[in-house]
Amino acid sequence: MRLQLASPSEHRELFNLPWPTPLAEWPDENMSDPGGLHRHIVRFLEVGEITYVLKELPEPLAEREYRLLRALAAEDIPAATAIGVVTDRGADNNGEGILITRHIDFSLPYRVLLSGRGLKIPYLGDRLLDALVGLLVRLHLAGFSWGDCSLSNTLFRRDAGALVAFVIDVETGELHPSLTDGQRSIDLTIAVENVAGGLLDLEAGGYLAPGIDPWATAEDVERRYQELWTELTAEEEFGAGDVYRIDKRLDRLHDLGFDAAEIEFTSTGDGRRLRLVPRVVETGFFAPRLQALTGLVTGENQARRLLDNLREFGARQDQTTQRRLPEPLIAARWLEQVYEPAINAVPRELDDKLEPAELFHQLLEHRWFLSEREGRDVGMAAAVQNYSAHVLKSAPDELRVIDPPTVELRITALDPDHAQGDYVFDPSLDVRPADGAERTGTDQRDDESDDESDDESDDHAFRKRYPPVI
Ligand SMILES: Nc1ncnc2c1ncn2[C@@H]1O[C@H](COP(=O)(O)OP(=O)(O)O)[C@@H](O)[C@H]1O
Ligand SMILES: [Mg+2]
Repeated sequence: MRLQLASPSEHRELFNLPWPTPLAEWPDENMSDPGGLHRHIVRFLEVGEITYVLKELPEPLAEREYRLLRALAAEDIPAATAIGVVTDRGADNNGEGILITRHIDFSLPYRVLLSGRGLKIPYLGDRLLDALVGLLVRLHLAGFSWGDCSLSNTLFRRDAGALVAFVIDVETGELHPSLTDGQRSIDLTIAVENVAGGLLDLEAGGYLAPGIDPWATAEDVERRYQELWTELTAEEEFGAGDVYRIDKRLDRLHDLGFDAAEIEFTSTGDGRRLRLVPRVVETGFFAPRLQALTGLVTGENQARRLLDNLREFGARQDQTTQRRLPEPLIAARWLEQVYEPAINAVPRELDDKLEPAELFHQLLEHRWFLSEREGRDVGMAAAVQNYSAHVLKSAPDELRVIDPPTVELRITALDPDHAQGDYVFDPSLDVRPADGAERTGTDQRDDESDDESDDESDDHAFRKRYPPVI
């Protein structure tokens, strides 16, 4: 038996597992099945705080998938984290190895998302496809052709109203220094077919909302891909006088969650024109910023939302102290006085419902809606209490989601009425301010109102660019 581990000191418990035993025969204790569609035997194993995913597959494939996942992680692509690979498991195993990845906590399979279970996501259909397309573009920029891009080989995580897609199944993938247009095009064709397949599968079970054409929806993947690829990679010419347009272009890249590695200015014909050659490298702009300031690891949209809140907090601090405080100091105070008290006020037994950054985003939304209805700022403490009791308590746990078989699902979120709903706030909710909950003054509320209208115009712009397809 041969066990290769990427960070052995963090995963000592893996040394003593019954690796030579076929995975199907492992004792059920601490193990569960992921559900959903898959080719190989896949089982979840909980060891202390960590959930591992074990997949049994022929050794060369297991080793290949292990190497590819590690390479993708090195490129900052959102992917399942490869922990190790087990080979030479003895004669009983017919050359089957085991790939060990870390469970992506709080990730949601597409079937769960499209069944409308749990807290709603505005414009769900659009966001699901955009997340998938964003992932495929990132992979292609890194020189990776997936070969099996599909909804069931992807997991989705909430990101402040949007979704981030993670690649989990890459055994068919190939990593090259870069991809030709032809290689990208083949990969995109596979993606379109697989997405159609995923939706047809739901349709066959009678769970696809009426009026949705799986093929038309799948073909929209292609349109969105081309649009994003062009936005990220097209070369533009600038007149000497409109250097500001380069700023705008960079802002647009940041808004899409990318950054440019290099800008190249070249003189052209009349010697006065400039050319921008964007090369996209990073998986985020705001998330690394927030992480550097606070240590919080979040999605890109969550980071943007939290940074806005942090900056508002900073502006109020500056007003109080009558001088500009350094950003790291503001960040430390914000964590201590705003973020952590809000998260800690949510009862512990609700910890597995949402990851903390998403929870904070939803608390901000909820506070804004309650305050709008009351015509005054209700304060964070009241918002947390109300949200925990009336929204979070009845929501399903999302820490580890078991993907149910098709027949158990009913599609509601793809219904246009649902898909176009916004943050779901029940107007009949009671606002009972918590004891000692402070009113923090209307200036703060105004700030957050501005915040919200920004969000709305974002949504508006988003919908103009990407009209709903499902
Ligand atoms: N790292 C992970 N985190 C959470 N769930 C996972 C992870 N890896 C796999 N799964 C779950 O297991 C299922 C099967 O995994 P996959 O790698 O696609 O296997 P197969 O090669 O058999 O298709 C996925 O659809 C997903 O639901
Ligand atoms: Mg798969």
